[in-house]
Amino acid sequence: MCIIFHEDTKQFHLSNDWISYIINVLPNGEIGQLYFGKKVHDKDDFSYLRESGMRPTVSCHTNGIDDFSLELTRQEYPAFGTTDLRNEAFEIHYSDGSSVSHFVYTGHDIYSGKKAIAGLPSTYAENESDAQSLELYLKDELKGVKITLFYTIWKDLPIITRRVSVSNCSKNEISLEKVMSISLDMPDADYEWMQFSGSWGRERFPIVRKLECGVTSIESRRGHSSAVQNPFVIVKRPDTNENQGAAMGLALCYSGNFRALAEVDTYGTLRFLMGINPEGFSWPLGSGETFDSPEAILSWTDGGLNSLSQSFHDLYREHLIRGKGKTEPRPILLNNWEATMMDFDEESILKIAAKGKEAGIELFVLDDGWFGARNDDYRGLGDWYANTEKLPEGMGGLSRKINEMGLDFGFWIEPEMVNEDSDLYRAHPDWVLGVPGRDKSLGRHQMVLDFSRKEVVDNIFEQLDKVFGSANVSYIKWDMNRSISECFSMGTDAKHQGAVYHRYILGVYSLYERLVNKYPNILFESCASGGGRFDAGLLYYAPQAWCSDDTDAMERVKIQYGTSYGYPISSIGAHVSAVPNQQTGRNCDIETRANVAYFGTFGYELDLNHLSDEEFEAVKEQIKFMKENRSLIHYGDFYRLQSPFENNISGWMVVSKDRKEAIMACYQMLADVCGGFKRIKLAGLDPDKEYECNGKTYYGDELMNIGMVVTKELTLGVCGGVDHTSAIFKLVTK
Ligand code: GLA
Repeated sequence: MCIIFHEDTKQFHLSNDWISYIINVLPNGEIGQLYFGKKVHDKDDFSYLRESGMRPTVSCHTNGIDDFSLELTRQEYPAFGTTDLRNEAFEIHYSDGSSVSHFVYTGHDIYSGKKAIAGLPSTYAENESDAQSLELYLKDELKGVKITLFYTIWKDLPIITRRVSVSNCSKNEISLEKVMSISLDMPDADYEWMQFSGSWGRERFPIVRKLECGVTSIESRRGHSSAVQNPFVIVKRPDTNENQGAAMGLALCYSGNFRALAEVDTYGTLRFLMGINPEGFSWPLGSGETFDSPEAILSWTDGGLNSLSQSFHDLYREHLIRGKGKTEPRPILLNNWEATMMDFDEESILKIAAKGKEAGIELFVLDDGWFGARNDDYRGLGDWYANTEKLPEGMGGLSRKINEMGLDFGFWIEPEMVNEDSDLYRAHPDWVLGVPGRDKSLGRHQMVLDFSRKEVVDNIFEQLDKVFGSANVSYIKWDMNRSISECFSMGTDAKHQGAVYHRYILGVYSLYERLVNKYPNILFESCASGGGRFDAGLLYYAPQAWCSDDTDAMERVKIQYGTSYGYPISSIGAHVSAVPNQQTGRNCDIETRANVAYFGTFGYELDLNHLSDEEFEAVKEQIKFMKENRSLIHYGDFYRLQSPFENNISGWMVVSKDRKEAIMACYQMLADVCGGFKRIKLAGLDPDKEYECNGKTYYGDELMNIGMVVTKELTLGVCGGVDHTSAIFKLVTK
């Protein structure tokens, strides 16, 4: 891994064993993009890659450079209002009303390691040798504003992270109308765009479309990254599949409104932009102030989509997730939500927990309904003290009793929300987002607290601190159950309203940071009505995320399959729930439900007392299996084998980093009658090693080229009686 600066040609070459990223100082002093892709040898001069033929209708840059138009130039951080008339990376409004910028290179710094971003989540280099960074300093002399472009290249991963800061060194206030975290221009556009879209209960379904001349874009305007669009996209060559071909992945380490955009111009050049959604964003930057963008993460592969995903998985597991979630095995948990909803008391909870302990569960999680007057979803949010009618000795008493059973204890919170019927709202009606004099909109009967205000975040911190401190807590599920609408803060003036969406998410991060620092033994799991805020930003604080409220096993195969493109298996909250399933009404045996949930953080979301003896014995075996295999599943390389979106039979597998062990799972969406014979081709094994599986021995190359025969395992008897089938295969080298 190294970053080389060629003084004579003013070119920078960032490279490691897999990738090269080459940029230069352009004739007008701005920064140009020359190459991003597979590693190439370094040399002094790559300037031939800046092709500069003219076209009749383009405008040229002045200052004596007459064959130079930004419209025809691949750039690193293109400005609004220049001769480049494509989508720009940033737009600044100056005090004289103008919005034309010209930022030129003034210097740079290259150093080992990586700097953190104050107040924002970001990937980190624990050791300086893990990464190298470049800062490029740019200045608009006329306006006295500086921009720094930050780049980090990782030693062991084909990944570059980028971000931007803008500093106002002038006397006048300026307004940032758009500050994208990354802009990347590529010389051709023969790509397909892949996005991960959905809704509540149907999160992160892949959608693929060909890029054509014009703009392809996804975004969130909901105040959270959302289940509708995810801040992760892939751009791949049309012939790229899971196991071969070139692709780029782009993620934003951010949990608020975002935009990802690809523009193909009329000359077939591709521009990629990602950052905070400029819609609804306007940030006044006073004299002497600096604004930091969130971090963007860029990866490249020529080894197919599995390898692209594995790079993101490795980066997040090694350089994003922190604390206990990084160093300790993820606990197998039992959550009472689908078992009781809010209708419980201490006795019923202890009964559920005790049965969990008998089955081998490690952590009991008390979900919604334990606080304030929270007996239904019309009241209680905002009042973070235990309801002593349900829990006579409070959280302290309950956690003690759970601990005495030999279980760890955790519970649910939704700190960003408030119900009208709550002590908090009665005391502070102006602490919600909304426009005075207009109707307040409710979502799930609740309002959004104004986390852009420090006093609001402080109040919630103090309440949570008290309840966390009153009990022995080792896990917290942090929920967020409605999008932001009518985004207006009663705590600031007219000029600063455009900053509220971003300040809100900074408030969320600050609360997380305070709690994570004060309670390092707590494992946080994020949630937003299921997977409505599943993004890299939150993984920095909460190493796992409840993937979806849809716990139907077959729907979960799709949701977890889609999620795996951008996120590691260790981050995917997945539980076995009761049947008929609460969301779909479908039936599915307990074995198949577990076979899906194994490929996540694993737990149960039901009352184990209601299972038959046979099912309960199966649960004990499942927990034993997961305890034995969780480090392989969570930290191995994950491969998608066959897509549930295109096939009745789907499959995936994990392979240990040393390729000595693997687990493959396959799922049949709908049981068939007199179906064909079934095989699944495996991936990632050592072709020359022999693997044992169910008493038989296979070479790795056999399993990867011929496939594993799965007909018997996925076929029911003539009258099967269940809708779906599945099977798990553990492979171990001889
Ligand atoms: C959301 C979550 C669920 C559960 C409920 C509780 O819907 O996604 O898992 O915690 O809230 O109200």
